[in-house]
Amino acid sequence: MEQTVKRIGILTSGGDAPGMNAAVRAVVRTAISQGVECVGIRRGYHGLINGDFMPMNASSVSHIIHKGGTVLYTARSKEFTTEEGREKALGTCKLLGLDGIVAIGGDGTFRGALALSRQATAHGNDLQVVGIPATIDNDIGCSHYTIGFDTACNTAIECIDKLRDTMQSHERCSVVEVMGRHAGYLALDVGISVGATAVLIPERTFDFESDVVEPIRKARLAGVTHFMVVVAEGVGSAVDIARRIQEEIGIDPRVTVLGHIQRGGTPSSRDRETASRMGYAAVQSLVENRGNRVIATRDGSIVNLDMEEALAMTKPFTMDRYMVLEALSRH
Ligand code: F6P
Repeated sequence: MEQTVKRIGILTSGGDAPGMNAAVRAVVRTAISQGVECVGIRRGYHGLINGDFMPMNASSVSHIIHKGGTVLYTARSKEFTTEEGREKALGTCKLLGLDGIVAIGGDGTFRGALALSRQATAHGNDLQVVGIPATIDNDIGCSHYTIGFDTACNTAIECIDKLRDTMQSHERCSVVEVMGRHAGYLALDVGISVGATAVLIPERTFDFESDVVEPIRKARLAGVTHFMVVVAEGVGSAVDIARRIQEEIGIDPRVTVLGHIQRGGTPSSRDRETASRMGYAAVQSLVENRGNRVIATRDGSIVNLDMEEALAMTKPFTMDRYMVLEALSRH
């Protein structure tokens, strides 16, 4: 089969995630090994619109596999959601002679890539796009795992372990808010891993009395004098939860919003390895002329999905992890 893709653009878009750099490195190095040129697009779709690019070779991705953030920078571009914005982006693709794009980010990033490819087709041009899922939220329907999740969990756990030291000394209650946008994957895995007294996630409607007050009371009756309540940001503010705890139990919790610290840091083994495999698979897809695809994971294996189908997929939030938490925390 003749290889039609000769020069590809690579970009990171949306919220950054640890491991994005490992994915960029894998794309560039795989492309070079396949005789495909690579151009780095800076600042996501914003950069594609404005012609903000950097040529990339094997050495331009040296010493980045262990770095958090993204060397290509990232942005959320409103302009790209418009046809006019994408028209400008296609102008940049034409100018640079790009026939493929690897877009690393969340499902908004993939929607943008698909819209761009379709607009190119409407003009009689071929622009093959491939998406790589990267977000600390792990909330992309088509992929069991997204790059950055494991590192973010470990960062949150490390912070909460530190909080626990001081909460234990002062015999206090800690209410910690973790990221995750509208999803509770991060909060639940972190909550299990820190042995939280209670975890509140958006996927499960909670009853304050039975899900927060009673677990704290039971722990107190069992002799525990410090309590850890983990709140997913999708549930609401940790400050409100702390206020309700004070009103209903009469203890004075301390609130910590972990915030963007969860997005930084050196990527874990899992994130580097997944990103490397996904980056490799993305370029392989392009050289095999399989465009408009998403590289995802299913039970740890890399899979190559049609982008439109991938965007329609949902990931059912199973309650098995919540049951583990309940069994281990309510005594
Ligand atoms: O999607 C990643 C994420 O960190 C979410 O967990 C969070 O809700 C959001 O991005 C924060 O976005 P921003 O960095 O634009 O404030």
